[in-house]
Amino acid sequence: MEKLNVTSLSSTYTLINGVNIPCIGFGTWQTPDGVVAYESVLAALKCGYRHIDTATAYGNEESVGKAINDFLKSGEAKRSDLFITTKLHNKDHGYEATKNAIERSLSLLGLDYLDLYLIHWPNPIFFRDNWAKANAGSWKAMEEAYEAGKIRAIGLSNFFERHIDKLMETAKIPPMVNQIKICPGIAQPELVKFCKDRNMEVEGYSPLGTGGSFKSEVLKKIAQKYGKSIAQVCVRWSLQQGAIPLPKSVNPERIAQNSQVFDFSLENEDCKAIAEINYAELGITPQRNPDENNF
Ligand code: A2P
Repeated sequence: MEKLNVTSLSSTYTLINGVNIPCIGFGTWQTPDGVVAYESVLAALKCGYRHIDTATAYGNEESVGKAINDFLKSGEAKRSDLFITTKLHNKDHGYEATKNAIERSLSLLGLDYLDLYLIHWPNPIFFRDNWAKANAGSWKAMEEAYEAGKIRAIGLSNFFERHIDKLMETAKIPPMVNQIKICPGIAQPELVKFCKDRNMEVEGYSPLGTGGSFKSEVLKKIAQKYGKSIAQVCVRWSLQQGAIPLPKSVNPERIAQNSQVFDFSLENEDCKAIAEINYAELGITPQRNPDENNF
């Protein structure tokens, strides 16, 4: 287990290129565009989250961006205090399409620059016959946007070891992040180690098992032991795995609750029990194999 030096939502880790990334991000997958995305992102920012994670595929960049810009107008934070991530859509792989996609995301979000841009999936169905070449083209476009100051860090999402190795064959700038599924029962220790050995920070999506964790008797007992909610135990566990958790909620009380994870620490035996949870029994879906997606 890593020693945790983070004490609040604005505590950061430093990426290999020197950019600071807040230790918890606010997730927006499955948050509908419009008023729900707007209000939940605004609630998250008001309660102290400084790291927001969206994606073109989530369809909510416009509302997420509006919340960010309205929050900035309130004067409670500066743009440089925030860390905003979005991701390349599966249909936009390849050099030219990625260049256009970056501009489109910037425009939808209403931002001059992104803090982090990720290739969302390594092997979309649309590029199955030439996925490695398509990724190499996307990466080149991302490197250029990085060098032009449009993106402060570039990385990957849902990449397994083989996809990372392949990308490294042509990358000039190595990836700084890999975002994968990390939740109770799905710790992916080998992939986490592989990424860390290559100086990549690991972000963990679905830290609450997209809601499945709340049915777990193991987690209920551990939550009682620490006097915390199951959600808080899950977020804390993800942090203690060395990941940057990205909890999602559209409910202001839960948004706040999910961030109150800095006043306790899980013992090793509890971390182990959480890693060993039978996720399938809770209806939690595994990390998808990126080579078998039909999207
Ligand atoms: P809601 O958005 O209505 O709060 P994950 O982050 O793993 O994707 O999990 C998100 C799911 O967990 C959503 O269904 C979300 O519902 C729910 N959720 C988020 N935070 C909490 C919480 N503190 N207590 C109960 N459910 C939560």
